[in-house]
Amino acid sequence: MKITYYGHACFGVQVSGKNLLFDPFITYNELAKGIDVSAIPADYILLSHGHEDHVADALNIAERTGATIVSNYEIVTWFQQKGVKSTHPMNHGGKWKFDFGTVKYVYATHSSVLPDGTYGGNPGGFVVESNEGSFYYSGDTALTIDMQLIPLTCGKLNVALLPVGDNFTMGVNDAIIATDFVKCDKVIGLHYDTFGYIKIDHRAAVDAFAAKGKELLLLNIGETIEL
Ligand code: NI
Ligand code: MN
Repeated sequence: MKITYYGHACFGVQVSGKNLLFDPFITYNELAKGIDVSAIPADYILLSHGHEDHVADALNIAERTGATIVSNYEIVTWFQQKGVKSTHPMNHGGKWKFDFGTVKYVYATHSSVLPDGTYGGNPGGFVVESNEGSFYYSGDTALTIDMQLIPLTCGKLNVALLPVGDNFTMGVNDAIIATDFVKCDKVIGLHYDTFGYIKIDHRAAVDAFAAKGKELLLLNIGETIEL
């Protein structure tokens, strides 16, 4: 399993020969100027919620790659109306077996509206399980007790991708509690530094995790790691 960070909340995950892309927001992200959007591979585009900083590049990339957009029913319907041919609608609690593994759409405490004001349904996160490893991509969320359901209903996670930027989502301290809820001590941070409200002190964040015996990875934009 290979994970590439494209900035903000956007990751590419190569798993079982397929390329999954989460929440693409690159073109309008000043920090991601070095990323060539037209070179990002995608077989599936998974969208946690409708906010612009999570869906801005989804249509372009879907048109170029023919990727399947996976999200809640409301968001998938909106992209169908924009002409996206391949979509897969889900909703909270549902799991589906794809050709790379299973995806469960799980609860997130946040809001969701699409860029033109269309209702975006309820925001969610994804638990992906495969032969090459399993991970939880929470999307934008507060710390929520519902995260305790993940280890009860899914297999062991290799890594959790969680927000650490605070203000709009969990911050570092709540993300540390979330690692106990999801029973995974290895975290890749997301949703930090992009805007003034969410700039964080990297050293302090990493140290706060380490003080609890946990690991926080803050990847460089464009960096790929193999797990
Ligand atoms: Ni959001
Ligand atoms: Mn966001």
